[in-house]
Amino acid sequence: MNIVILAAGQGKRMRSALPKVLHPLAGRPMLAHVLALARAVRAQAGGDGRIVVVIGHGAQAVRSAFKHEADVQFVLQEPQLGTGHAVQQAVPWLDEATPTLVLYGDVPLLRAQTVMRLLQAACAAGRAGVGLLTARLEEPHGYGRIVRDEAGHVRRIVEERDASAEERLITEVNTGILVAPTPALKRWLACLSADNAQGEYYLTDVVTRAVAEGAPVAAVLIQDTEEALGVNSPLQLARLERILQRRLAEQLLDAGVRLADPARIDVRGELTVGTDVVIDVGNVFEGRVHLGDGVRIGPHNLIRDCTIGAGTEVLGYCYLERATIGARARIGPFARTRPEVTLADEVHIGNFVEVKNSSFGHASKANHLAYIGDATVGARVNIGAGTIVANYDGANKHHTVIEDDVHTGSNSVLVAPITVGAGATVAAGSTVSRHVPAGKLTVARVRQTTVEGWQRPTKKSSN
Ligand code: UD1
Ligand code: CA
Repeated sequence: MNIVILAAGQGKRMRSALPKVLHPLAGRPMLAHVLALARAVRAQAGGDGRIVVVIGHGAQAVRSAFKHEADVQFVLQEPQLGTGHAVQQAVPWLDEATPTLVLYGDVPLLRAQTVMRLLQAACAAGRAGVGLLTARLEEPHGYGRIVRDEAGHVRRIVEERDASAEERLITEVNTGILVAPTPALKRWLACLSADNAQGEYYLTDVVTRAVAEGAPVAAVLIQDTEEALGVNSPLQLARLERILQRRLAEQLLDAGVRLADPARIDVRGELTVGTDVVIDVGNVFEGRVHLGDGVRIGPHNLIRDCTIGAGTEVLGYCYLERATIGARARIGPFARTRPEVTLADEVHIGNFVEVKNSSFGHASKANHLAYIGDATVGARVNIGAGTIVANYDGANKHHTVIEDDVHTGSNSVLVAPITVGAGATVAAGSTVSRHVPAGKLTVARVRQTTVEGWQRPTKKSSN
Protein backbone atom coordinates (compact mmCIF):
# COMPACT_ATOMS: atom_id res chain seq x y z
CA MET A 1 0.00 0.00 0.00
CA ASN A 2 1.10 3.57 -0.71
CA ILE A 3 0.81 5.95 2.23
CA VAL A 4 0.98 9.71 1.73
CA ILE A 5 1.11 12.11 4.69
CA LEU A 6 0.24 15.74 3.98
CA ALA A 7 2.42 18.07 5.99
CA ALA A 8 3.20 21.04 3.76
CA GLY A 9 0.63 23.52 5.02
CA GLN A 10 1.72 26.61 6.84
CA GLY A 11 -0.52 26.31 9.88
CA LYS A 12 -1.05 30.08 10.01
CA ARG A 13 -3.39 29.85 12.96
CA MET A 14 -0.60 28.40 15.12
CA ARG A 15 1.07 31.85 15.02
CA SER A 16 4.45 30.20 15.36
CA ALA A 17 7.74 30.10 13.49
CA LEU A 18 7.87 26.34 14.09
CA PRO A 19 6.25 24.32 11.26
CA LYS A 20 2.93 23.00 12.54
CA VAL A 21 3.80 19.32 12.27
CA LEU A 22 6.88 19.83 14.47
CA HIS A 23 4.88 21.12 17.43
CA PRO A 24 5.25 18.56 20.18
CA LEU A 25 2.45 16.37 21.36
CA ALA A 26 3.25 14.13 24.34
CA GLY A 27 6.91 15.03 23.87
CA ARG A 28 7.16 14.06 20.21
CA PRO A 29 6.53 16.13 17.07
CA MET A 30 2.96 15.80 15.81
CA LEU A 31 4.29 14.25 12.61
CA ALA A 32 6.00 11.47 14.62
CA HIS A 33 2.58 10.32 15.83
CA VAL A 34 1.24 10.22 12.27
CA LEU A 35 4.34 8.33 11.09
CA ALA A 36 3.81 5.80 13.89
CA LEU A 37 0.20 5.44 12.75
CA ALA A 38 1.31 4.99 9.13
CA ARG A 39 3.78 2.28 10.14
CA ALA A 40 1.22 0.47 12.28
CA VAL A 41 -1.25 0.49 9.38
CA ARG A 42 1.43 -0.65 6.94
CA ALA A 43 2.34 -3.55 9.24
CA GLN A 44 -1.30 -4.58 9.81
CA ALA A 45 -2.07 -4.37 6.10
CA GLY A 46 0.90 -6.66 5.54
CA GLY A 47 2.71 -4.23 3.30
CA ASP A 48 6.08 -2.58 3.07
CA GLY A 49 7.37 0.32 1.04
CA ARG A 50 8.14 3.88 1.83
CA ILE A 51 5.90 6.47 3.37
CA VAL A 52 5.68 9.63 1.28
CA VAL A 53 5.58 12.82 3.33
CA VAL A 54 4.67 16.00 1.47
CA ILE A 55 6.47 18.97 2.99
CA GLY A 56 6.59 22.65 2.07
CA HIS A 57 6.30 25.21 4.79
CA GLY A 58 9.46 24.85 6.94
CA ALA A 59 10.54 21.93 4.75
CA GLN A 60 14.16 22.09 5.85
CA ALA A 61 13.28 21.90 9.54
CA VAL A 62 10.87 19.02 9.00
CA ARG A 63 13.39 17.12 6.89
CA SER A 64 16.13 17.49 9.46
CA ALA A 65 13.87 16.54 12.38
CA PHE A 66 13.20 13.22 10.61
CA LYS A 67 16.46 12.66 8.76
CA HIS A 68 17.08 9.29 10.40
CA GLU A 69 13.83 7.71 9.19
CA ALA A 70 14.99 5.46 6.39
CA ASP A 71 11.48 4.49 5.29
CA VAL A 72 10.32 8.08 4.73
CA GLN A 73 10.39 9.71 1.31
CA PHE A 74 10.06 13.49 1.52
CA VAL A 75 8.48 15.30 -1.41
CA LEU A 76 8.53 19.07 -1.69
CA GLN A 77 5.35 20.96 -2.49
CA GLU A 78 6.26 24.48 -3.52
CA PRO A 79 4.11 26.59 -3.61
CA GLN A 80 1.35 25.03 -1.51
CA LEU A 81 -1.77 25.12 -3.64
CA GLY A 82 -4.04 22.87 -1.59
CA THR A 83 -4.46 19.29 -0.42
CA GLY A 84 -5.13 17.94 -3.94
CA HIS A 85 -2.03 19.68 -5.27
CA ALA A 86 -0.09 18.20 -2.34
CA VAL A 87 -1.06 14.64 -3.28
CA GLN A 88 -0.19 15.41 -6.92
CA GLN A 89 3.40 16.00 -5.84
CA ALA A 90 3.52 12.47 -4.43
CA VAL A 91 2.23 10.86 -7.65
CA PRO A 92 5.66 9.82 -9.06
CA TRP A 93 6.23 7.77 -5.90
CA LEU A 94 2.94 5.87 -5.98
CA ASP A 95 2.86 2.24 -7.06
CA GLU A 96 -0.20 1.71 -9.24
CA ALA A 97 -0.52 -1.92 -8.22
CA THR A 98 -1.72 -1.02 -4.72
CA PRO A 99 -4.17 1.54 -3.33
CA THR A 100 -3.12 4.87 -1.85
CA LEU A 101 -3.98 5.97 1.68
CA VAL A 102 -3.81 9.69 2.50
CA LEU A 103 -3.18 10.77 6.10
CA TYR A 104 -2.89 14.31 7.45
CA GLY A 105 0.11 15.48 9.42
CA ASP A 106 -2.17 17.56 11.63
CA VAL A 107 -4.63 14.76 12.54
CA PRO A 108 -2.50 12.82 15.01
CA LEU A 109 -4.89 10.94 17.34
CA LEU A 110 -6.22 8.47 14.82
CA ARG A 111 -5.92 4.82 15.83
CA ALA A 112 -4.55 2.18 13.46
CA GLN A 113 -7.61 -0.03 13.98
CA THR A 114 -9.85 2.81 12.75
CA VAL A 115 -7.82 3.19 9.56
CA MET A 116 -7.96 -0.59 9.13
CA ARG A 117 -11.77 -0.41 9.26
CA LEU A 118 -11.59 2.18 6.47
CA LEU A 119 -9.32 -0.02 4.34
CA GLN A 120 -11.62 -3.01 4.81
CA ALA A 121 -14.71 -0.97 3.87
CA ALA A 122 -13.00 0.36 0.73
CA CYS A 123 -11.92 -3.16 -0.15
CA ALA A 124 -15.45 -4.49 0.35
CA ALA A 125 -16.75 -1.78 -2.00
CA GLY A 126 -14.80 -3.40 -4.82
CA ARG A 127 -11.57 -2.85 -6.74
CA ALA A 128 -12.57 0.65 -7.78
CA GLY A 129 -13.79 1.50 -4.26
CA VAL A 130 -12.92 4.76 -2.53
CA GLY A 131 -12.98 4.93 1.27
CA LEU A 132 -13.58 8.11 3.26
CA LEU A 133 -13.23 8.43 6.99
CA THR A 134 -15.95 10.67 8.37
CA ALA A 135 -17.04 11.84 11.79
CA ARG A 136 -20.21 13.26 13.27
CA LEU A 137 -19.35 16.43 15.18
CA GLU A 138 -21.71 18.59 17.23
CA GLU A 139 -19.64 21.57 16.13
CA PRO A 140 -18.70 20.87 12.52
CA HIS A 141 -17.42 24.40 11.97
CA GLY A 142 -14.30 24.55 9.80
CA TYR A 143 -14.55 21.03 8.42
CA GLY A 144 -15.58 19.84 4.98
CA ARG A 145 -19.13 18.40 5.04
CA ILE A 146 -20.22 15.07 3.58
CA VAL A 147 -23.08 15.61 1.15
CA ARG A 148 -25.29 12.54 0.57
CA ASP A 149 -28.26 11.97 -1.74
CA GLU A 150 -31.73 10.80 -0.65
CA ALA A 151 -30.59 7.19 -0.84
CA GLY A 152 -27.75 8.01 1.57
CA HIS A 153 -24.96 7.64 -1.01
CA VAL A 154 -22.05 10.06 -0.74
CA ARG A 155 -22.23 12.61 -3.56
CA ARG A 156 -19.39 15.01 -2.73
CA ILE A 157 -17.54 16.88 -0.02
CA VAL A 158 -18.12 20.59 0.33
CA GLU A 159 -15.68 22.82 2.20
CA GLU A 160 -17.10 25.14 4.86
CA ARG A 161 -16.27 28.23 2.81
CA ASP A 162 -17.94 26.89 -0.32
CA ALA A 163 -20.97 25.46 1.46
CA SER A 164 -24.52 26.82 1.30
CA ALA A 165 -26.27 27.69 4.56
CA GLU A 166 -28.15 24.41 4.27
CA GLU A 167 -24.99 22.37 3.70
CA ARG A 168 -23.40 23.97 6.74
CA LEU A 169 -26.06 22.32 8.88
CA ILE A 170 -24.63 18.89 7.96
CA THR A 171 -22.82 17.44 10.97
CA GLU A 172 -21.08 14.59 9.17
CA VAL A 173 -17.59 15.90 8.37
CA ASN A 174 -14.60 14.82 6.34
CA THR A 175 -11.62 13.81 8.49
CA GLY A 176 -9.41 14.18 5.42
CA ILE A 177 -8.32 10.56 5.56
CA LEU A 178 -9.11 8.64 2.40
CA VAL A 179 -8.07 5.61 0.43
CA ALA A 180 -8.42 5.19 -3.31
CA PRO A 181 -7.24 2.91 -6.12
CA THR A 182 -4.00 4.52 -7.31
CA PRO A 183 -4.50 4.66 -11.11
CA ALA A 184 -7.95 6.23 -10.66
CA LEU A 185 -6.63 8.64 -8.02
CA LYS A 186 -3.94 9.83 -10.43
CA ARG A 187 -6.53 10.36 -13.12
CA TRP A 188 -8.85 12.29 -10.80
CA LEU A 189 -6.03 14.43 -9.40
CA ALA A 190 -5.02 15.42 -12.93
CA CYS A 191 -8.38 17.06 -13.55
CA LEU A 192 -8.78 19.04 -10.32
CA SER A 193 -9.48 22.74 -10.62
CA ALA A 194 -8.93 25.58 -8.19
CA ASP A 195 -12.29 27.13 -8.92
CA ASN A 196 -13.46 27.53 -5.31
CA ALA A 197 -13.55 30.02 -2.43
CA GLN A 198 -9.93 29.41 -1.46
CA GLY A 199 -8.50 29.14 -4.99
CA GLU A 200 -6.95 25.80 -4.02
CA TYR A 201 -6.80 22.35 -5.54
CA TYR A 202 -8.93 20.37 -3.12
CA LEU A 203 -8.23 16.69 -2.59
CA THR A 204 -11.87 16.38 -1.56
CA ASP A 205 -12.93 17.03 -5.17
CA VAL A 206 -11.69 13.57 -6.17
CA VAL A 207 -14.90 12.30 -4.55
CA THR A 208 -16.98 14.22 -7.10
CA ARG A 209 -14.91 12.61 -9.86
CA ALA A 210 -15.27 9.14 -8.37
CA VAL A 211 -19.05 9.55 -8.12
CA ALA A 212 -19.18 10.84 -11.73
CA GLU A 213 -17.33 7.71 -12.90
CA GLY A 214 -19.66 5.51 -10.89
CA ALA A 215 -16.92 4.31 -8.52
CA PRO A 216 -18.33 3.13 -5.19
CA VAL A 217 -17.60 5.51 -2.30
CA ALA A 218 -17.70 4.01 1.18
CA ALA A 219 -17.90 6.44 4.08
CA VAL A 220 -16.74 4.98 7.39
CA LEU A 221 -17.89 6.85 10.46
CA ILE A 222 -15.36 7.19 13.28
CA GLN A 223 -16.86 5.92 16.54
CA ASP A 224 -14.63 7.92 18.88
CA THR A 225 -14.80 11.44 17.44
CA GLU A 226 -11.69 12.51 19.36
CA GLU A 227 -9.68 10.58 16.78
CA ALA A 228 -10.83 12.95 14.04
CA LEU A 229 -9.64 16.11 15.74
CA GLY A 230 -7.11 18.17 13.84
CA VAL A 231 -4.64 20.75 15.09
CA ASN A 232 -5.00 24.19 13.60
CA SER A 233 -4.45 26.41 16.65
CA PRO A 234 -2.63 26.39 20.01
CA LEU A 235 -5.98 25.80 21.71
CA GLN A 236 -6.61 22.67 19.65
CA LEU A 237 -3.04 21.50 20.26
CA ALA A 238 -3.54 21.87 24.03
CA ARG A 239 -6.83 19.95 23.85
CA LEU A 240 -5.23 17.12 21.91
CA GLU A 241 -2.38 17.00 24.42
CA ARG A 242 -4.91 16.47 27.25
CA ILE A 243 -6.71 13.76 25.29
CA LEU A 244 -3.45 11.96 24.59
CA GLN A 245 -2.32 12.29 28.21
CA ARG A 246 -5.61 10.85 29.38
CA ARG A 247 -5.13 7.88 27.04
CA LEU A 248 -1.59 7.34 28.36
CA ALA A 249 -2.75 7.60 31.99
CA GLU A 250 -5.46 5.02 31.31
CA GLN A 251 -2.86 2.69 29.79
CA LEU A 252 -0.79 3.03 32.97
CA LEU A 253 -3.82 2.33 35.16
CA ASP A 254 -4.57 -0.74 33.03
CA ALA A 255 -0.98 -1.86 33.58
CA GLY A 256 -1.61 -1.74 37.34
CA VAL A 257 0.03 1.58 38.20
CA ARG A 258 -1.67 3.48 41.00
CA LEU A 259 -1.97 7.10 39.89
CA ALA A 260 -3.10 9.55 42.56
CA ASP A 261 -4.87 11.47 39.79
CA PRO A 262 -4.89 10.37 36.13
CA ALA A 263 -5.48 14.00 35.13
CA ARG A 264 -2.25 15.12 36.76
CA ILE A 265 0.52 13.18 35.05
CA ASP A 266 2.41 13.99 31.86
CA VAL A 267 4.22 11.36 29.87
CA ARG A 268 6.35 12.87 27.13
CA GLY A 269 8.04 9.79 25.80
CA GLU A 270 8.00 6.15 26.81
CA LEU A 271 7.28 5.16 30.40
CA THR A 272 7.54 1.47 31.25
CA VAL A 273 6.65 0.09 34.66
CA GLY A 274 6.88 -3.00 36.85
CA THR A 275 4.19 -4.07 39.28
CA ASP A 276 2.90 -2.07 42.25
CA VAL A 277 4.20 1.27 41.09
CA VAL A 278 2.62 4.25 42.83
CA ILE A 279 2.77 7.75 41.29
CA ASP A 280 1.60 10.85 43.11
CA VAL A 281 0.34 14.01 41.36
CA GLY A 282 2.25 16.45 39.20
CA ASN A 283 4.93 14.20 37.73
CA VAL A 284 6.46 14.73 34.29
CA PHE A 285 8.19 11.80 32.61
CA GLU A 286 10.31 12.58 29.56
CA GLY A 287 12.25 10.42 27.14
CA ARG A 288 12.63 6.78 28.17
CA VAL A 289 11.88 6.09 31.79
CA HIS A 290 11.58 2.71 33.49
CA LEU A 291 10.18 2.28 36.99
CA GLY A 292 10.85 -1.11 38.59
CA ASP A 293 8.51 -3.12 40.82
CA GLY A 294 7.24 -1.27 43.86
CA VAL A 295 8.74 2.10 42.91
CA ARG A 296 7.00 5.01 44.61
CA ILE A 297 7.14 8.45 43.04
CA GLY A 298 6.18 11.37 45.30
CA PRO A 299 4.61 14.59 44.09
CA HIS A 300 5.98 16.98 41.45
CA ASN A 301 9.12 15.45 39.98
CA LEU A 302 10.61 15.78 36.52
CA ILE A 303 12.16 12.46 35.51
CA ARG A 304 13.93 12.30 32.15
CA ASP A 305 15.66 9.25 30.66
CA CYS A 306 16.05 7.38 33.96
CA THR A 307 15.92 3.78 35.11
CA ILE A 308 14.74 3.40 38.68
CA GLY A 309 15.21 0.08 40.47
CA ALA A 310 12.70 -1.98 42.44
CA GLY A 311 11.50 -0.60 45.74
CA THR A 312 13.14 2.78 45.27
CA GLU A 313 11.33 5.84 46.49
CA VAL A 314 11.57 9.29 44.90
CA LEU A 315 10.17 11.56 47.57
CA GLY A 316 9.11 14.61 45.59
CA TYR A 317 10.22 17.84 43.95
CA CYS A 318 13.23 16.20 42.29
CA TYR A 319 14.76 16.91 38.87
CA LEU A 320 16.33 13.69 37.67
CA GLU A 321 18.02 13.41 34.31
CA ARG A 322 19.90 10.46 32.76
CA ALA A 323 20.29 8.54 36.01
CA THR A 324 20.41 4.81 36.57
CA ILE A 325 19.23 4.23 40.09
CA GLY A 326 19.41 0.88 41.86
CA ALA A 327 16.93 -0.89 44.11
CA ARG A 328 15.63 0.32 47.49
CA ALA A 329 17.26 3.73 47.05
CA ARG A 330 15.79 6.92 48.48
CA ILE A 331 15.97 10.07 46.41
CA GLY A 332 14.83 13.54 47.44
CA PRO A 333 12.93 15.51 48.31
CA PHE A 334 14.53 18.34 46.30
CA ALA A 335 17.34 16.29 44.76
CA ARG A 336 18.86 16.88 41.35
CA THR A 337 20.82 14.58 39.11
CA ARG A 338 22.46 15.72 35.91
CA PRO A 339 23.78 13.39 33.20
CA GLU A 340 25.31 10.72 33.74
CA VAL A 341 24.67 9.33 37.20
CA THR A 342 24.72 5.74 38.42
CA LEU A 343 23.52 5.01 41.92
CA ALA A 344 23.82 1.50 43.39
CA ASP A 345 21.20 -0.17 45.56
CA GLU A 346 20.20 1.53 48.82
CA VAL A 347 21.84 4.85 48.01
CA HIS A 348 20.29 7.93 49.62
CA ILE A 349 20.41 11.29 47.88
CA GLY A 350 18.67 13.85 50.03
CA ASN A 351 17.48 17.43 49.85
CA PHE A 352 19.45 20.05 47.97
CA VAL A 353 22.00 17.54 46.74
CA GLU A 354 23.20 17.80 43.14
CA VAL A 355 25.02 14.88 41.56
CA LYS A 356 26.60 15.08 38.10
CA ASN A 357 28.57 12.55 36.05
CA SER A 358 29.25 10.41 39.09
CA SER A 359 28.62 6.98 40.50
CA PHE A 360 27.72 5.97 44.05
CA GLY A 361 28.44 2.49 45.46
CA HIS A 362 26.14 0.38 47.57
CA ALA A 363 24.37 2.16 50.47
CA SER A 364 26.30 5.41 50.17
CA LYS A 365 24.52 8.53 51.37
CA ALA A 366 24.54 12.24 50.64
CA ASN A 367 21.61 13.35 52.70
CA HIS A 368 21.74 17.11 52.55
CA LEU A 369 23.22 20.14 50.81
CA ALA A 370 26.03 18.75 48.69
CA TYR A 371 27.51 18.89 45.18
CA ILE A 372 29.17 15.79 43.82
CA GLY A 373 30.51 16.20 40.28
CA ASP A 374 32.83 13.97 38.21
CA ALA A 375 33.36 11.59 41.12
CA THR A 376 33.53 7.88 41.74
CA VAL A 377 32.08 7.27 45.17
CA GLY A 378 32.58 3.84 46.78
CA ALA A 379 30.25 1.84 49.02
CA ARG A 380 28.92 2.89 52.45
CA VAL A 381 30.31 6.41 52.03
CA ASN A 382 28.73 9.18 54.06
CA ILE A 383 28.88 12.58 52.43
CA GLY A 384 28.33 15.21 55.13
CA ALA A 385 26.04 18.21 54.75
CA GLY A 386 27.69 20.99 52.80
CA THR A 387 30.32 18.80 51.14
CA ILE A 388 31.41 20.17 47.78
CA VAL A 389 33.48 18.39 45.20
CA ALA A 390 35.32 21.28 43.51
CA ASN A 391 35.62 19.56 40.13
CA TYR A 392 36.25 22.62 37.99
CA ASP A 393 39.35 24.80 38.11
CA GLY A 394 37.87 27.44 35.83
CA ALA A 395 39.22 25.80 32.71
CA ASN A 396 39.06 22.01 33.08
CA LYS A 397 37.05 19.42 34.97
CA HIS A 398 38.90 16.92 37.13
CA HIS A 399 37.97 13.55 38.55
CA THR A 400 37.64 12.67 42.24
CA VAL A 401 37.73 9.22 43.81
CA ILE A 402 36.09 8.71 47.19
CA GLU A 403 36.78 5.14 48.30
CA ASP A 404 34.62 2.81 50.39
CA ASP A 405 33.58 3.79 53.94
CA VAL A 406 34.78 7.40 53.71
CA HIS A 407 33.03 9.99 55.86
CA THR A 408 33.29 13.63 54.88
CA GLY A 409 32.49 16.17 57.57
CA SER A 410 30.11 19.06 57.16
CA ASN A 411 31.24 21.84 54.89
CA SER A 412 34.25 20.07 53.48
CA VAL A 413 35.63 20.94 50.07
CA LEU A 414 37.37 18.23 48.05
CA VAL A 415 39.46 19.96 45.40
CA ALA A 416 39.80 17.70 42.35
CA PRO A 417 41.75 15.80 41.18
CA ILE A 418 41.98 13.98 44.47
CA THR A 419 41.58 10.54 46.02
CA VAL A 420 40.13 10.07 49.46
CA GLY A 421 41.37 6.67 50.69
CA ALA A 422 39.08 3.96 52.04
CA GLY A 423 37.78 4.53 55.52
CA ALA A 424 39.21 8.05 55.71
CA THR A 425 37.43 10.77 57.63
CA VAL A 426 37.68 14.36 56.43
CA ALA A 427 37.08 16.73 59.30
CA ALA A 428 34.27 19.25 59.12
CA GLY A 429 35.20 22.51 57.45
CA SER A 430 38.26 21.09 55.72
CA THR A 431 39.47 22.07 52.27
CA VAL A 432 41.53 19.14 51.02
CA SER A 433 43.50 19.47 47.82
CA ARG A 434 45.97 16.63 48.25
CA HIS A 435 45.59 12.87 48.61
CA VAL A 436 43.71 11.94 51.78
CA PRO A 437 45.20 8.76 53.29
CA ALA A 438 42.99 5.77 54.06
CA GLY A 439 41.72 4.99 57.51
CA LYS A 440 42.78 8.27 59.14
CA LEU A 441 41.30 11.58 60.18
CA THR A 442 42.49 14.44 58.00
CA VAL A 443 41.91 17.99 59.20
CA ALA A 444 42.63 20.84 56.82
CA ARG A 445 41.38 23.99 58.47
CA VAL A 446 42.73 26.73 60.67
CA ARG A 447 43.14 25.48 64.23
CA GLN A 448 40.65 26.99 66.66
CA THR A 449 42.15 29.61 68.97
CA THR A 450 40.67 31.64 71.78
CA VAL A 451 42.00 35.12 72.54
CA GLU A 452 42.26 35.59 76.27
CA GLY A 453 41.36 39.01 77.71
CA TRP A 454 39.81 40.18 74.44
CA GLN A 455 37.13 42.81 74.87
CA ARG A 456 34.26 43.46 72.57
CA PRO A 457 34.39 47.09 71.30
CA THR A 458 31.75 49.39 72.71
CA LYS A 459 30.00 52.17 70.83
CA LYS A 460 31.45 55.63 71.38
CA SER A 461 28.87 58.11 72.69
CA SER A 462 28.29 60.87 70.07
CA ASN A 463 29.20 63.85 72.31
C1 UD1 B 1 -9.06 19.70 5.20
C2 UD1 B 1 -10.14 19.17 4.25
C3 UD1 B 1 -11.50 19.20 4.96
C4 UD1 B 1 -11.40 18.38 6.23
C5 UD1 B 1 -10.25 18.84 7.11
C6 UD1 B 1 -10.04 17.84 8.24
C7 UD1 B 1 -9.53 19.76 1.96
C8 UD1 B 1 -9.74 20.70 0.83
N1 UD1 B 1 -10.20 20.00 3.07
O1 UD1 B 1 -9.36 21.04 5.47
O2 UD1 B 1 -12.49 18.66 4.12
O3 UD1 B 1 -12.62 18.47 6.95
O4 UD1 B 1 -9.02 18.90 6.36
O5 UD1 B 1 -9.04 18.22 9.13
O6 UD1 B 1 -8.78 18.79 1.81
N2 UD1 B 1 -1.58 20.62 3.22
C9 UD1 B 1 -0.52 20.46 2.34
N3 UD1 B 1 -0.42 21.28 1.27
C10 UD1 B 1 -1.31 22.24 1.01
C11 UD1 B 1 -2.40 22.41 1.90
C12 UD1 B 1 -2.50 21.58 2.99
O7 UD1 B 1 0.33 19.57 2.55
O8 UD1 B 1 -1.15 22.95 -0.01
C13 UD1 B 1 -1.67 19.72 4.39
C14 UD1 B 1 -1.60 20.47 5.70
O9 UD1 B 1 -0.27 20.57 6.15
C15 UD1 B 1 -2.45 19.60 6.61
C16 UD1 B 1 -3.46 18.97 5.66
O10 UD1 B 1 -2.92 19.07 4.38
O11 UD1 B 1 -1.71 18.57 7.22
C17 UD1 B 1 -4.81 19.67 5.74
O12 UD1 B 1 -4.68 21.00 5.35
P1 UD1 B 1 -5.53 22.18 5.99
O13 UD1 B 1 -5.18 23.44 5.30
O14 UD1 B 1 -5.38 22.13 7.46
O15 UD1 B 1 -6.98 21.74 5.53
P2 UD1 B 1 -8.36 22.07 6.24
O16 UD1 B 1 -8.78 23.44 5.85
O17 UD1 B 1 -8.26 21.72 7.67
CA1 CA C 1 -6.55 21.15 9.17
